[in-house]
Amino acid sequence: MTVLAIETSCDETAVAILRGRDDDSGHELLASEVASQVAAHEKYGGIVPEIASRNHLIYAPRLLDRAASAAKIGLTDIDAFAATSGPGLASSLMIGASIAKGLAIGFGKPYLAINHLEGHLLSPFFGGEDGGEQIRPNVSLIVSGGHTMLVLVRGLADYQLIGHTVDDAAGEAFDKVAKMLGLGYPGGPEIEKRARDGDPNRFDLPRSILNSENFSFSGLKTAVRYLLPKIGGEERRLTQTPYNLDERVSSDLCASFQQAIIDVLMAKTIAAARKCHVDLVTVSGGVSCNQELRRQLSEACSRKGFEFKSAEPWLCTDNAAMIAFAALLRLQAGCESQVTEEIDPNLKVA
Ligand code: KG4
Ligand code: ZN
Repeated sequence: MTVLAIETSCDETAVAILRGRDDDSGHELLASEVASQVAAHEKYGGIVPEIASRNHLIYAPRLLDRAASAAKIGLTDIDAFAATSGPGLASSLMIGASIAKGLAIGFGKPYLAINHLEGHLLSPFFGGEDGGEQIRPNVSLIVSGGHTMLVLVRGLADYQLIGHTVDDAAGEAFDKVAKMLGLGYPGGPEIEKRARDGDPNRFDLPRSILNSENFSFSGLKTAVRYLLPKIGGEERRLTQTPYNLDERVSSDLCASFQQAIIDVLMAKTIAAARKCHVDLVTVSGGVSCNQELRRQLSEACSRKGFEFKSAEPWLCTDNAAMIAFAALLRLQAGCESQVTEEIDPNLKVA
């Protein structure tokens, strides 16, 4: 069973080809191509939907060609075509879904509409070289640019939402704070880099709604905004660097901000794992590339008696391999979608 998946939910165009073993015991990744649009959106400090969808239209056919030649197969050898059908930007989702539907119709093969969040939450089970681990019950923390949520995963397609962000997602908070500091986009990796030499205890930033299962990061972002004029000298609105921060202050602020996010993510994840009586905690999504988050969450889990599993760093940010993995598992479980299935920018995972 060989699946081709297309991911175009946001600003990453991606195509992957994944082959399942005949006895369903695992898989082999034949190709995974990602075209990043970071450079096209960087100067705007965020994603411009119109630019994203135009670029998907340009990149997707090229990536299809590249993936097929990397996999050394033709599109006629593909057994099913999958695409991310939500959540995401409508104009971006439409491109990948339309191409996958067209291929499925043209080659007379099944089509699978895959939830992007399911792709993230299954990615810790993708495995290594001879990958494809059995999905086990777990509490899954999904932390990306668009989402921050805790989901109880009982098995494939059996998910229950525990908590979600009521305002900004963790990645969004990283991106917005990075923008205030005049750092590049996406902000997460930039803040992580600066935070390495910083003192996480220098600035006292809020850990919001710790008594709730939901998340809120906009108060933290606002706290940084109010702190900046007090520690950054004059505001320089007309330049790329809005605040004239000293290197040390900037590193300490990045470390303090990053730690505030990590503390909240850790506390709520451990509380959810306890409440749901699972043995395993998983983490996925772009923010889970953050080494400090991975280290601290892993240590907290082992202190509290939970096994910890994170997606491989290359699978954390948006890619099509995780979409192909979800599609392959669904196909093996006998699921298919109708080609009439619409994309849904607000698609829920549970
Ligand atoms: O999962 P993803 O690629 O896209 C969405 O589905 O949203 O996540 C992108 C987000 C961005 O907000 C980016 O700043 C954040 O992940 N991110 C990080 C790191 N690498 C990426 N945040 C913190 N630390 C990182 N190392
Ligand atoms: Zn994502």
